[in-house]
Amino acid sequence: MILKSTVDRIMEATDIVEVIGEFVQLKKRGANYVGLSPFANERTPSFTVSPAKGIFKDFSSGKGGSAVTFLMELEKFTYPEALKWLAKKYSIEVEETVETAENREEENRRESLMIVSGFAAKFFHESLLDTDEGKAIGLSYFKERGFTADTIKKFELGYSPDQWEAFTGQAIKEGYQPEFLIDSGLSVKRDNGNLYDRYRGRVMFPIHSFTGRVIAFGGRTLKSDKNVPKYVNSPESEIYHKSNVLYGLYFAKKSIREEDNCYLVEGYADVISVHQAGIENVVASSGTSLTVEQIRLIGRLTKNITILYDGDAAGIKAAVRGLDLILEEGLNVKVVLFPDGHDPDSYVRLVGTNGFKKHIEDNKKDFILFKTNLLLKEAGNDPIKKSEVIRDIVESIAKIPDSIKASVFIKECSNLLQIDERALLSELNKMRQAKAKKDSQQPNGRMITPVEDYPVVEEPKEEPKETYSQEKEIVRLLLLYGNKMIDWDGIANTYIGPFMIAELNDVEFEYPAAKTFIEIYSKEVENGVLPEDQHFIHYPDKEIVDLVVTLIATKYTLSENWYEMHKILVSDEQANMKATILSAIFHLKMHKVGKMLDNLRTELQNAKTDEDQDILLTQYMRMKKVEKTISDYLGSVILK
Ligand code: UTP
Ligand code: MN
Repeated sequence: MILKSTVDRIMEATDIVEVIGEFVQLKKRGANYVGLSPFANERTPSFTVSPAKGIFKDFSSGKGGSAVTFLMELEKFTYPEALKWLAKKYSIEVEETVETAENREEENRRESLMIVSGFAAKFFHESLLDTDEGKAIGLSYFKERGFTADTIKKFELGYSPDQWEAFTGQAIKEGYQPEFLIDSGLSVKRDNGNLYDRYRGRVMFPIHSFTGRVIAFGGRTLKSDKNVPKYVNSPESEIYHKSNVLYGLYFAKKSIREEDNCYLVEGYADVISVHQAGIENVVASSGTSLTVEQIRLIGRLTKNITILYDGDAAGIKAAVRGLDLILEEGLNVKVVLFPDGHDPDSYVRLVGTNGFKKHIEDNKKDFILFKTNLLLKEAGNDPIKKSEVIRDIVESIAKIPDSIKASVFIKECSNLLQIDERALLSELNKMRQAKAKKDSQQPNGRMITPVEDYPVVEEPKEEPKETYSQEKEIVRLLLLYGNKMIDWDGIANTYIGPFMIAELNDVEFEYPAAKTFIEIYSKEVENGVLPEDQHFIHYPDKEIVDLVVTLIATKYTLSENWYEMHKILVSDEQANMKATILSAIFHLKMHKVGKMLDNLRTELQNAKTDEDQDILLTQYMRMKKVEKTISDYLGSVILK
């Protein structure tokens, strides 16, 4: 458990704009910041951050909360993980109470997998730097490849000793459970149940999550034996989904945002060499073709991707097919080739930083034009092939969501293809119409596809809408006015919060988050505290944060003319504060009583004995009286 005092210090230090700014490009708008939702695929920004309130609200996906909730949503962190991330960012020392066997048990599997991966990275790094075998084999290999000591440290490169159990043995000795060693892929299980090291005798490239935790490894063999796979990579696990990860992104993200461009290369070594040369906005897809998830990861940071390929033709052709995906995501794609036999790694070492940059400047081509040239060269003078090329190119252009950009490409391609621009345009429009038709047939089309399967707080299935909205209204009033005084009759002043809690003590809340909210609020009131909205915004329970943020952050209260609109709304409500509060309480009570009466009526109809009927009838009449009292009361106090 992280100590409350630490949590407080973290909360104080946290600047929500700064935190979210690491993941989302934010622009200042009025008192708030807006950006494209990282949870939904959108083109107009609906993601809003309010530094004053310390909250974010994403109007596309409905998610909202504090900086902590944001990290929990985006990185799938647990609450303590999110806190630790913030503590690290703001250099706050985390104080924890001693870990008991019990809460170690409770630690969830993901956290365990991350911990064991972190341990492994450290183990491999130390065996690279501190053991004779590591130095002689691993370290000398990296040095030969031109990696500096700083680079080796930064990327936490390592060496896995050429023994069956060097790592596994140590891990077991230090108390790591076999289950997690196996699930993370670090160890492999023999038929007899014993474990052995997966990466024996390989140099190790740890793969970091977006927030810098080690989640997987690539291990490169140092043998030139063709029968040995060059790289052995971590299997998919609860913390490593290959298609959602880009190698180097953690180290590149800052620079990607600053440069407003991301270089995409193929291999681990390419990332490291280019980064070491001072060009830090570089990531790798690690040998697989790019996935939509990876493109969106980049798309959160920049809309410009420059692909750096080695010159081998087969690779280019295969890759070109996948690139339409990037266009579809609305990103601008440029392509740079390197002279035959060179990849970015070897080339940057050959020509140095400036030479490398110059090569990129001189050779970068827009993807569409690159593709057109490539396909045209292939088609030669064959007219049928050439018409296929035209179709293919127009198909790519049709994927570009920005129609102005698309028409510029049509113009340029009409030159290259030596075809009338109007013919291309009419072909383009045909394709777009077909696409629009297809999209409209998919009701849950692309606009709301989430980036990943984030755990979504689900509302209970059949929502008794009225009950819930009345309960939420109570929560809203407590949040807004709980710590304000109300003057009942010119004589007695009370705080609204405790008053409402006392009035509602006979009401059973049904909406789960509201129920919990009321429990927390009551407990605080008992302790003599009037909790403010910040108390709930930083609450560990995501559903509470969700409810609270939804209630205090409507699009309208966060909008630019917040003040003016808010003033109208608030002053209205405040002028009739007494009516507002009582009406909320008694409408809820009315509703509950109504429901009880409904139940009693059903029971009465099904009553078996006269005695039962008698009891139920008495209850029914008593309840009817309550209903009458409430409705009289409502009639007398509540001004319409
Ligand atoms: P490369 O063969 O280009 O590797 O594969 P590299 O990183 O440039 O390595 P060096 O320069 O030969 O040392 C590109 C990427 O494809 C993946 C790895 O992610 C690699 O970085 N790959 C390659 C594998 O996963 N398995 C393999 O067997 C080969
Ligand atoms: Mn290479």
